[in-house]
Amino acid sequence: MSNKSKIRIGIIGCGNISQAYFNGAKLFEVLEVVACADLNPEAAKVKATENGCVAQTVDELLANPNVDLVINLTIPAVHAEVSLAALRAGKHVHCEKPLAVHLDDARKVLELAGEKGLLVGCAPDTFLGAGLQTARKMVDDGWIGKVFSGSAFMMSRGPESWHPNPAFFYEVGGGPMFDMGPYYITALVHLLGPVKEVSAVTTRAFEERIATCKEQFGKLLPVSVPTHSSGTLVFHSGAVVTVTISFDVHRHGHSPIELYGGEGSLKVPDPNTFGGPLEVWTPTTGEWRNQALSFPYSENSRSIGAADMAYAILSGGKRLHRSSGALAYHVLEVMHAFGKSSDLKKHVSIESNPPQPEPLPLGLIKGRL
Ligand SMILES: NC(=O)c1ccc[n+]([C@@H]2O[C@H](COP(=O)([O-])OP(=O)(O)OC[C@H]3O[C@@H](n4cnc5c(N)ncnc54)[C@H](O)[C@@H]3O)[C@@H](O)[C@H]2O)c1
Repeated sequence: MSNKSKIRIGIIGCGNISQAYFNGAKLFEVLEVVACADLNPEAAKVKATENGCVAQTVDELLANPNVDLVINLTIPAVHAEVSLAALRAGKHVHCEKPLAVHLDDARKVLELAGEKGLLVGCAPDTFLGAGLQTARKMVDDGWIGKVFSGSAFMMSRGPESWHPNPAFFYEVGGGPMFDMGPYYITALVHLLGPVKEVSAVTTRAFEERIATCKEQFGKLLPVSVPTHSSGTLVFHSGAVVTVTISFDVHRHGHSPIELYGGEGSLKVPDPNTFGGPLEVWTPTTGEWRNQALSFPYSENSRSIGAADMAYAILSGGKRLHRSSGALAYHVLEVMHAFGKSSDLKKHVSIESNPPQPEPLPLGLIKGRL
C-alpha cells in the first residue's frame, strides 16, 4: 500500500447499483476508486469516464497493484466466484449481498480470507446509517426496556416493474428472501444480536412473472425460487420476531420493522434506507413520537461499510469492521433456514453466532468513521 491514509478501490460489476457506490465512495476520505471492470467492457468504460477512474478487464483489475480492495457488485450467482478470485489476487473484498448463494461457497470465501490475512465485508451497510444507528442507541439505552418481540415486513410485487434486467431476481440466489432479506435480518441482528433458531413456511404465488420495466416490457420471467417467506426468528437474547419477506403482495399497511419491549415500542426505519423516520411509543407519552436522528449518514451512503473496513485494514487488526463477512454468513444461514424449515416442517437451529456489530460512536465527523 503506497498511501497509508487511503484504501484504493477496484469495482467489479458496473450495473444498476454501481453508481451508488461510485457516489458513496466520494463521501469518505479513506476511499479512492481507481479502477472498474465488467464482463461488458462498454459498461466499465461508461462508468470509468463518468467517475474519473480506469476501465479494465476483470483480470487486469485483479492484477492491478494499485487496487487494495475489490468491491464486488456482480450478480448474486457469481458473488463467491468473483470474491474468491479477488482474494486469490491478494485483494480485500467488500461484496454486495448476499455473500454467496450457497453456504458452502460463503464459507470458502471466509476461509480463504482467513488463510490470506485479508478482510471480507458484505452489504448491506444501511445499518451504519443515521436511522438504524439511532434505533440501536435507543434499544441499548433502554428506551423501550428489554425487547421481547417484534415484526419485520418487506412485501411488494417484485422488482420487474423498475429493474432493467430483472430475470436474476427469480433465479436461484434471487427471490425476495435473498434480495431483500439481508436488509431486514442484518438490521435485526444489529439491533438484537444473533439469531438462535428459525421456523418458517415458504411459498410462491406465480410460476412465471411478466417484466413491465421499459427495457424488457412483456418478457416472461420463469420463477424457480420461493417468492413468499413467512417465519419466526428466535434470538439468543430471547426476543421472538415475526418476519415476512414477499414479492407476491401489491399493498400492505405494516411498518418495515417494529420492536416491542417491556417499557414501550419502536417503529424502526426501512432498513433499505439510511435515514428515518424513527418513532417511539411509551406509556408516559401515550402516543407515537418522531425521534430525531442523532448520527450522520441519513442519505444514500452505500460504501460506508467499505469505508469502515478500510479503517480496519489501515489499523492493522486493531479495529474490527462492522458489515463483516462473519455477519453476512450468519444472515445467509438464517435466510437458508427459512427454506430448510419449510421443507422439513421443523424448527432449524442456527450454528453461526457472530458478535453483534459494535454501534458507531456518537459525534462522528461526516466523511470519517
Ligand atoms: N439494483 C439495485 O437497486 C440494488 C440495490 C442494492 C443491492 N444490489 C445488489 O447489487 C448486485 C448487483 O445488482 P445490479 O442491480 O447492479 O445488477 P445488474 O445486473 O444491473 O449489474 C450487474 C453487473 O455485473 C456484471 N457481471 C456479471 N457477472 C460478472 C462477472 N463474472 N465479472 C464481471 N462482471 C460481471 C454484469 O455484466 C452487470 O453489468 C446484486 O447482488 C444486487 O443484489 C442491487
